[in-house]
Amino acid sequence: MKNSLLLKALHCQNDSRPPVWLMRQAGRYMPQYRAIRAKHSFLEMCHTPELAAAVTRLPIQVFGFDAAILFSDILVIPEALGVGLHFDEGRGPIIERPLQTAQDIDALPEPCIEEALGFVGEAIRLLREDLTVPLIGFCGAPFTLASYMIEGGSSRDLKKTKKWLLNDPESFHRLLDKLAHCALKYMHLQAKAGVQAFQIFDSWAHVLGHAQFREFVQPYLKKMVDGFRSTGIPVILFCRGSSVFAPDLAELQSAAISIDWNGDIRQIRASLPATVALQGNLDPDILYAPEKMLKSEVRRMLRAMKGEPGYIFNLGHGIFPDVSVDAVHNLVETIKSA
Ligand code: CP3
Repeated sequence: MKNSLLLKALHCQNDSRPPVWLMRQAGRYMPQYRAIRAKHSFLEMCHTPELAAAVTRLPIQVFGFDAAILFSDILVIPEALGVGLHFDEGRGPIIERPLQTAQDIDALPEPCIEEALGFVGEAIRLLREDLTVPLIGFCGAPFTLASYMIEGGSSRDLKKTKKWLLNDPESFHRLLDKLAHCALKYMHLQAKAGVQAFQIFDSWAHVLGHAQFREFVQPYLKKMVDGFRSTGIPVILFCRGSSVFAPDLAELQSAAISIDWNGDIRQIRASLPATVALQGNLDPDILYAPEKMLKSEVRRMLRAMKGEPGYIFNLGHGIFPDVSVDAVHNLVETIKSA
């Protein structure tokens, strides 16, 4: 496993083709996923170790990706904090009791993460028994988790969250601190259970200005990366906005940074220390392009990063649920035959 393409690339020591995996690779675009999902709710799938493990394996079996990402959701941490979570068909995640006042933040319990999220450790243990590729664990970052807990679900512009951090930064920092504390415990739970790499998702960081990113995102990611360093497990930092925030993320000295699809990854590579690996950054919509264009766009990215010992092929964000299975096969085959 140490010789896997993913782990070599995360240590900037890969001298063969780049490894490939896709964010949200275990999802609704796969008919095998939809068949399991027809019988169980999404949260039930997350909460049941055997189901979570089976869904994690699906894209490895069908497409031959070079890494598996644990099937779960970033919102299991807010769920453990007792704000109430369900998924609504069509509307996505719903937080049943969103945070409205500073008192709501101070009243959040201090959950026993090992107990509340033990089912995740169980899924990881099952997977490590038979997975032939490295297993990536993950969690949400404090800012993104806070935004869901305040907005009450998905929101286009995070207005409530931004008004909160502008008008009462002290209580917002207390919330971020609590979330970082829980997330770090959750990272260690996953490390103990056997994950071999770890990705932190700060999906909504792109709504922030640069000074806000340095105040409300960077210190909490730092706390998590530093607090996890003793495990020796490489950490990948993802946020939308990472093609702008890459130099700020690089200061945190994680193993890798996952780049959104807006920036030129070649230029970003040239601007960062050679010790940080880069992941990305195909526009997820390219999977809707005709086969010829899809293949030429994948090859363009491979050429841009040719010879880079620390490069991992991925999309700039998660795969969409209506992408065709053929497009994903074509993407993987193009990389493997390059
Ligand atoms: O990458 C993987 O395959 C692993 C599984 C994974 C899921 N969610 C499964 C999922 C991961 C890594 C996540 C992370 C996640 N969850 C993020 C960060 C990544 C990102 O995309 O920015 C966020 C913001 C969430 C919160 C979340 N979960 C939303 C907004 C939604 C609704 C999306 C939608 O289109 O309905 C989910 C649901 C979700 N998470 C699904 C899956 C497979 C679909 C659930 C279903 O079957 O209905």
